Amino acid sequence: MMKLRAASSCILSCLLVLFLSSVSAVSDDSQDRQVYVVYMGSLPSRADYTPMSDHMSILQEITGESSIEGRLVRSYKRSFNGFAARLTESERDRIVEMEGVVSVFPSKKLQLHTTASWDFIGLKEGDRTKRNHTVESDTIIGVIDSGITPESQSFSDKGFGPPPMKWKGVCSGGENFTCNNKLIGARDYTSEGTRDTEGHGTHTASTAAGNAVADTSFFGLGNGTVRGGVPASRIAAYKVCDQAGCSSEALLSAFDDAIADGVDLITISIGDKSAQNFENDPIAIGSFHAMTKGILTVVSAGNSGPKDSTVSAVGPWMLTVAASTTNRGFFTKVVLGNGKILVGKSVNAFDMKGMKYPLVYGKAAALSTCDAETAELCYPDCLNRSFVKGKILVCGSPRGLKIAESLGAVALIFNSSKPDVAFIHPLPASGLSKTEFGSLLSYIESADSPRAAVLKTEAIYNQTSPVVSSFSSRGPNTIAFDILKPDITAPGVEILAAYSPYGELSEYDTRHVKYSVLSGTSMSCPHVAGVAAYVKTFYPKWSPSMIQSAIMTTAWPVNATGTGIASTEFAYGSGHVDPIAALNPGLVYELDKADHIAFLCGLNYTSDVLKIISGETVTCSEEKKILPRNLNYPSMSAGVLRYNNSFTVTFNRTVTNVGTPNSTYKSKVVPGHGSKLSVTVTPSVLSFETVNEKKSFKVTVTGRDLSSELPSSANLIWSDGTHNVRSPIVVYTDGY
Ligand SMILES: *[C@@H]1O[C@H](CO)[C@@H](O)[C@H](O)[C@H]1NC(C)=O
Ligand SMILES: *[C@@H]1O[C@H](CO)[C@@H](O)[C@H](O)[C@H]1NC(C)=O
Ligand SMILES: *[C@@H]1O[C@H](CO)[C@@H](O)[C@H](O)[C@H]1NC(C)=O
Ligand SMILES: *[C@@H]1O[C@H](CO)[C@@H](O)[C@H](O)[C@H]1NC(C)=O
Ligand SMILES: *[C@@H]1O[C@H](CO)[C@@H](O)[C@H](O)[C@H]1NC(C)=O
Ligand SMILES: *[C@@H]1O[C@H](CO)[C@@H](O)[C@H](O)[C@H]1NC(C)=O
Ligand SMILES: *[C@@H]1O[C@H](CO)[C@@H](O)[C@H](O)[C@H]1NC(C)=O
Ligand SMILES: *[C@@H]1O[C@H](CO)[C@@H](O)[C@H](O)[C@H]1NC(C)=O
Ligand SMILES: *[C@@H]1O[C@H](CO)[C@@H](O)[C@H](O)[C@H]1NC(C)=O
Ligand SMILES: *[C@@H]1O[C@H](CO)[C@@H](O)[C@H](O)[C@H]1NC(C)=O
Ligand SMILES: *[C@@H]1O[C@H](CO)[C@@H](O)[C@H](O)[C@H]1NC(C)=O
Repeated sequence: MMKLRAASSCILSCLLVLFLSSVSAVSDDSQDRQVYVVYMGSLPSRADYTPMSDHMSILQEITGESSIEGRLVRSYKRSFNGFAARLTESERDRIVEMEGVVSVFPSKKLQLHTTASWDFIGLKEGDRTKRNHTVESDTIIGVIDSGITPESQSFSDKGFGPPPMKWKGVCSGGENFTCNNKLIGARDYTSEGTRDTEGHGTHTASTAAGNAVADTSFFGLGNGTVRGGVPASRIAAYKVCDQAGCSSEALLSAFDDAIADGVDLITISIGDKSAQNFENDPIAIGSFHAMTKGILTVVSAGNSGPKDSTVSAVGPWMLTVAASTTNRGFFTKVVLGNGKILVGKSVNAFDMKGMKYPLVYGKAAALSTCDAETAELCYPDCLNRSFVKGKILVCGSPRGLKIAESLGAVALIFNSSKPDVAFIHPLPASGLSKTEFGSLLSYIESADSPRAAVLKTEAIYNQTSPVVSSFSSRGPNTIAFDILKPDITAPGVEILAAYSPYGELSEYDTRHVKYSVLSGTSMSCPHVAGVAAYVKTFYPKWSPSMIQSAIMTTAWPVNATGTGIASTEFAYGSGHVDPIAALNPGLVYELDKADHIAFLCGLNYTSDVLKIISGETVTCSEEKKILPRNLNYPSMSAGVLRYNNSFTVTFNRTVTNVGTPNSTYKSKVVPGHGSKLSVTVTPSVLSFETVNEKKSFKVTVTGRDLSSELPSSANLIWSDGTHNVRSPIVVYTDGY
């Protein structure tokens, strides 16, 4: 699906496989009907209630038709109540008024957004990492995505016993689709069957929980053992995306089923281009229900960075993941005729044996119908094949990828719009940064007969610290200003993992592979899902918020590509995931459903909207409300008014001791970005006699002259000498 979109317009600018873009309503061709989600909140507890017949009778009443075949698209009846149906606008207006109906919203299309990475983040293979295999194999990861490749070695069930007793799902993957004791469940909400014909869902599932598969590579590149975070865990695949995208109504069905099927955790690398109000966001609604059932949902932040305010998963009841590099990078060198070497990015497994070929810059190959400026960017239908054939085409933009092969070019060198990420291309290619591209142009201008060789990609393992990638969506949160999002970053650049042999590798690429290299927050999300599952295997009773807190407060500090807001906590939240440290957080910030409702009340949501999100009737009394920034979240953030030169904000928090009895934690504040914040913590020392004991404290932050360009930050660290429980504190002003 992504591939189609890439083919039509955006190539590199869309990161090839990625995340979300259009938000178009799904409409019925023939009549003026479109698919609406009729959401009815929680399931009534009455024993005699039969959701399906209720849905049918509502539809019959509204449409006046006795046969509602073709109208009812699906019923939600397992974890919450509602249905999706084809309705006209006037039918929609009437259905909103009906008893029991909480909201009606159009189904829209969302979009989809490895494996040295696990070693890099500290989850090593073998005896250096402690694991409880028995518990791990009782853990089930629900993957809501583009389906899965059941034959992949990553999902072989060699050595697996029967599915866990608690499993209540099914294998209904369609024709030629067989589950096994590793891939224990499959459901399809498209009409294609659960088989992944794209590659995305296979990649994300194998990153979270795929088996360890030795001697894997992409045509020799990145060779090694590919594996998921919890290789002994089981996988259930829920296919919601097809060529056209991922519809809201399908997403809600997948949540409805996954929760009832008994998954322990949901990973979802899908989202909208920017944050939507919670009541219109199927992922926010689905993950809220999952949270109430003790299931953590891990969601990708989106690929719309480095622009600010682009993070699309913003509810505090989900764990939102940004994407960063690992210590391995793919680099593709270009050797010029004069011996100079330029280093570009791509995943190029084609071996041209170092042969040099003549270079031709787009504008030197222009057809008479094209001006030089258009030709130098290599617009389609702009270049004369007779100048390009047998040469290396040089283009001022990635557009050349569309035409280089058909014009008979032997290779392509282009000015990359994303020079920090390597992509797969159908011919030898290297994407240069603006500066390197400038050097190439100077050489072409100065040389008599400019020539170059494009070398095979080298995997270089010398990048020291992870850096959040430019494409990763940034905060601030546009819906709940005082909740810092994204929450965490994880490897999402040049990740080798399982792929669908039916999927296209890249635009016009006829190669088929079982393992491929992809980049995106889609790839980082299942890393954190794997870590969350790993933590859960040690603490099966921990609530979603405890797991989330453990992951966030033990994250490493990181940097991000970009300037201004793009280089701050709005890129990486609490920092980089550390699976081993997350097993031993010391203290956790706990939250339950009532806390989230008090938070939503504090955002002044009306009871209608609250009902949509929580699925039940809620009255927001004054004592029930909390200031959003007092939600007991593991990070602290506040938007303050710009005209206030000086400001004071406070955060109330409560921590639970999950470490050792008789421990004493002292607070410490470390400065971060922007103008100086003065932070006081009361009390500044917390003593716990027992495990599970809770202690509250208040953080008061004062400062002045906040920049509108950069948030100001600090870190609060509670330390008992063994554990360092770190929370970023971020204060910002956007002039609102
Ligand atoms: C694994 O966890 C189970 C259940 O908590 C426990 O009974 C068992 O002893 C653990 N095994 C190991 C090796 O820690
Ligand atoms: C199912 O598998 C059979 C045998 O491999 C093949 O002939 C058939 O085309 C497949 N059907 C689908 C829908 O893939
Ligand atoms: C990958 O292949 C290269 C060349 O064959 C070899 O030197 C290297 O050790 C391999 N790496 C791994 C991790 O297997
Ligand atoms: C392409 O260039 C060749 C060689 O200069 C020329 O003969 C031909 O007419 C050009 N083709 C077009 C379509 O301009
Ligand atoms: C290269 O691309 C950048 C944008 O990514 C643009 O600013 C620059 O002008 C381009 N350089 C050339 C020579 O086309
Ligand atoms: C490490 O990477 C840098 C570029 O990031 C490169 O200049 C340097 O040569 C590399 N070092 C090694 C030992 O590969
Ligand atoms: C972030 O970048 C700065 C400046 O390059 C560097 O001093 C610092 O060590 C980096 N921090 C981390 C955590 O990598
Ligand atoms: C909610 O409404 C109260 C009272 O009108 C107001 O003080 C507060 O700022 C509002 N909160 C938000 C988050 O808009
Ligand atoms: C603005 O400053 C006043 C006085 O210091 C303070 O009471 C108020 O809370 C501030 N408002 C915000 C939004 O920070
Ligand atoms: C914050 O905590 C303080 C002290 O525990 C308490 O007095 C105050 O009411 C709390 N504020 C809110 C908004 O919960
Ligand atoms: C904690 O300290 C109390 C009082 O000093 C003592 O009675 C208790 O045994 C200690 N608990 C543990 C687990 O050491």
